[in-house]
Amino acid sequence: MALPFDASRGWVGWYAWAWYVDQLRLRAYPASTRRIGLARLHASAAPPPLPACTHPLRFSTSTLVAIDRPPRLPNTGGLIHPRLEQFSSYKLQAISSNHQDSMPPSADTSSASNILAAPKRIETRLYINGEFRDAVSGKTFTLVNPATDEPVAQIAEADKEDVDAAVDAAEAAYPAWRDMDGHARAACLRKLAALIRENVDAFAYLEAVSMGRPVYNYDNDCEFAAASIEYMAGAIHHLHGETSLQSDGYLNLTLRQPFGVCAAIIPWNVPMIMFAWKLGPCLAAGNTLVLKSSEKAPLTSIKMAELIHQAGFPPGVINIIGGFGPTAGAAMAKHMKVRKIAFTGSARTGKLIQEMASQSNLKNVTLELGGKSPCVVFDDADIDAAVAGSQFSIQWNSGQICIANSRIYVHEKIAEEFTQKFVKSFGSVKIGNPLDKDTRHGPQADKLQLANIKRFLEKGKAEGGELLLGGAQVTMDGTEASGDEAKGCFVHPTVFSNVPESATIVKEEIFGPVLAINTFTSEDEVLARCNDTEYGLYAAVYTKSLDRAIKFAKGMEAGTVGVNCTSPSGLFVDMPFGGFKQSGVGRECGMDSLHHWSEVKTVAIKLS
Ligand code: NAI
Ligand code: MG
Repeated sequence: MALPFDASRGWVGWYAWAWYVDQLRLRAYPASTRRIGLARLHASAAPPPLPACTHPLRFSTSTLVAIDRPPRLPNTGGLIHPRLEQFSSYKLQAISSNHQDSMPPSADTSSASNILAAPKRIETRLYINGEFRDAVSGKTFTLVNPATDEPVAQIAEADKEDVDAAVDAAEAAYPAWRDMDGHARAACLRKLAALIRENVDAFAYLEAVSMGRPVYNYDNDCEFAAASIEYMAGAIHHLHGETSLQSDGYLNLTLRQPFGVCAAIIPWNVPMIMFAWKLGPCLAAGNTLVLKSSEKAPLTSIKMAELIHQAGFPPGVINIIGGFGPTAGAAMAKHMKVRKIAFTGSARTGKLIQEMASQSNLKNVTLELGGKSPCVVFDDADIDAAVAGSQFSIQWNSGQICIANSRIYVHEKIAEEFTQKFVKSFGSVKIGNPLDKDTRHGPQADKLQLANIKRFLEKGKAEGGELLLGGAQVTMDGTEASGDEAKGCFVHPTVFSNVPESATIVKEEIFGPVLAINTFTSEDEVLARCNDTEYGLYAAVYTKSLDRAIKFAKGMEAGTVGVNCTSPSGLFVDMPFGGFKQSGVGRECGMDSLHHWSEVKTVAIKLS
């Protein structure tokens, strides 16, 4: 076998040989697994000794890591699919012992107790110009645990003066960051990705006590965030312009250049992923950033600030603030020095941000907004796969996901079997304390979200749907809660069937574990019903017919279409994600995203 290098040449040769063999052996693993292994390999500073060759993956360097799941699992884009739940506690494992201590702590082996332990210290301040500081006003707000209604922390509350300070810091840091060699910027991003993987437990804890996310699969969010940032580190060297010789007497070219100071406003439902999707391309393109977390889930963003500090980003390149939308958020959207703003959240707030952007300096705006995603199940589909996928889609994160399939259209021939299986599976999900590693269904994010969902439940009952499951607030142990004084913000998984298409719960985003199952007979009719919405974020179809799959993939008015899979499958670091119609403007992930974070300049060079 011809090798592309000389393996007899000292450690460089052995290193290259080990890498080459890894490539051959790792081909069977999903790209995400290979990426982590190779990133660790590249990050290794000193040439490691070769370990004994007793396992295919051991014929490698001591820094190579692997995910303890078998090869050839379907790639779920970093997010766990229900049928893979047995793997949901996967851990990054060190193959050799010398780097064990730098490996991420695992969520399920840290202690004998089933309750995830709190980190030793929780930071609550703003991060501006490379320093943690209180708000100028000295104001703080109280973060409340939605599982217990108990206060968790006092969070520094940014206002306009803090936004101004953050923007000034980002402005001062911009020229040096823009001009820094791409390798150096990529190294900071890679270091940050590695630190995220080492802090999974801390992130899981902080999200659980802020917005109620169960800790059991939070490693997926961290891994997806880290992988998204790593993708952008790699993409830096692909951010190119074009050249043209098509005009006589000219050499024409385009340059891709950063905007300057950019802003990002993220939501509370999947903050780690939203943070990474904005930070990665923003910095890769050479911009500097002011990011505001959601008042409902600020702690993971502040933890990210600590890791950003540790990763060695120059002061001012990334500034993180906590605070409220109408004050700090609006100050960012209106700021005259901010040249681009990226937002994820409700369509209502997205419209306000676009308005503020145009009324100030017409800054570039990208928006990721809500959804009312349909999932169509044909009578030739694998019913069990469709039940498992679509149930996880609306149950995961207590239904607080913009891509959740909140409308299911099932062919009438299989409607009874599908619905029975769905209700059985959705009804048996374990409700409980999100810090408990066995909990699969936590509370809604806060009392406001709970109240919103309860209003939708009442509308669902009033507007003609048949209630098959749930329909009420419950306590942490899953029993029905009575009265407003009930503790926590838990909602029982809820299924309505035969709901009129005009009903509010079929039309509006609920952002809770509430589903409408309706039946259909004809392909064209169901496609029209799927598209009869102002939203267009995600759509899914389950069928074995190739013609039908392609017809729906083309015909669904949505930014992502899942064929024989549904959300959160279909989200990948290298594939664009975003919405048709009122679900958004622009795309995140992949090269598309990087293009949205850079300006194009044409340079015309006249030849004499
Ligand atoms: P929201 O859209 O108001 O909040 C998202 C972010 O925008 C937060 O960081 C918030 O502080 C900020 N914000 C709010 N008002 C602002 C303003 N005037 N100017 C600048 N920034 C502002 O969403 P909210 O109130 O937390 O949730 C309400 C509903 O929004 C949910 O029930 C759900 O339907 C939808 N939503 C959709 C999300 C998605 O991923 N598409 C994420 C979060 C919420
Ligand atoms: Mg809270």
